[in-house]
Amino acid sequence: MTTASSLKAAQAVDENRLWGRVMQMATHGGTPKGGVNRQALSDEDRAARAELTAWAKAHDFEVSQDATANLYIRRTGSDPSLPPVVTGSHLDSQPTGGKYDGAYGVMAGFEVLEALEAAGIRTKRSIEVVAWMNEEGSRFQPGAMGSAIYAGKYRLADYLETRDPKGAVLGEELAATLKALPVRERSEAPKPAAYVEAHIEQGPILEAKGLQIGAVTLVQGSRRYTIEIIGEEAHAGTTPLKARKDAMKAGAAIVMALEKAFEDPADVVRYTVGMFQVFPGSANTVPGRVLFSIDFRHPDKETLVRLTSQIEGIAKANARGCEVTVTRISDVSPTPFDPAIVGLVQDVAKALSLPSHAMISGAGHDAMHVAHLCPTGMIFVPCGRGISHNEAESATPADLAAGARVLAATLVELADR
Ligand code: GLV
Ligand code: MN
Ligand code: MN
Repeated sequence: MTTASSLKAAQAVDENRLWGRVMQMATHGGTPKGGVNRQALSDEDRAARAELTAWAKAHDFEVSQDATANLYIRRTGSDPSLPPVVTGSHLDSQPTGGKYDGAYGVMAGFEVLEALEAAGIRTKRSIEVVAWMNEEGSRFQPGAMGSAIYAGKYRLADYLETRDPKGAVLGEELAATLKALPVRERSEAPKPAAYVEAHIEQGPILEAKGLQIGAVTLVQGSRRYTIEIIGEEAHAGTTPLKARKDAMKAGAAIVMALEKAFEDPADVVRYTVGMFQVFPGSANTVPGRVLFSIDFRHPDKETLVRLTSQIEGIAKANARGCEVTVTRISDVSPTPFDPAIVGLVQDVAKALSLPSHAMISGAGHDAMHVAHLCPTGMIFVPCGRGISHNEAESATPADLAAGARVLAATLVELADR
């Protein structure tokens, strides 16, 4: 059952306004190749947060931020005492990210607030748009940090000393980010009534099916590790191979042994080594230290645990005389979304004549943490060739607007309950 008010909200979504906002946001950290480098708590991230705040204030929406630098934009409902319905995503990007990963979900949420203003609709519950701090985890590990802290899964205090690869300290960058935005400080975090996040799919399924809407049923589980290998620096010209403790060759052997152990003819396992550093990084010195990352994902918890439990043993067995330390940085179980929210997204899409596809998310999202607090779901829209975490990431104005229409109607349905 879809109400007249939610359909009216969907119709009030303005494709051009939304596209304009997404393009404007992409100027913060915009790269020559058309992508975005707007990493968490950077100057570019601060500029994006300031611009979103200015847009919100132009409408008299309430703006606040918590101690984690999650940024909240609230359009007050007719009964502000009720828990709000929340939407959002993240404004931070990968170092070579695209214009849409994260920013789309925040802009789609903001478009819903603007559409409600334009249509003169006052929902019963307030609707709140959140820009979560540090979803990507590329600068400061782990990712989805702001939403995990909000959901009580992580503690901010445990990450204040975390450093980025250049040595900047998270606590200092966080303080500078909070100071840069003079908005109300929010201490309490009332449990939302529901949370729905819009995002580009970041994969090829919707495009291949020719569909504009994905109703996400589950976010697959993920575990992230850092592997440190300590060998011994030595002269590249004089040291016999047998006398070496070459951290680089041990690292290469470990990476390939894990590749073999994780072979999966069904192509469900996701194993990635995206960061690999060699020290001291001199062509004629045998490397004495290597640091690399493992990002492992699977939709099935038992398989996730079973396969990743092999990492340490395989790493030690391929150490070639070096010392190996395996540290787990994050562990997120597969997260199913609330069937009632998934069903609502499907019903709303149908009422808007937008056929949808029920699907799992290969990527991680803030919604996977918020799902522990309240009924949660996600809406996916297609992106070009499924490409994401790439400056060439692309999407069409019509697809972004379709997702925002489904988001608008879904949020209004939930906010009038
Ligand atoms: C988020 O960007 C992820 O790595 O899934
Ligand atoms: Mn994202
Ligand atoms: Mn991402």
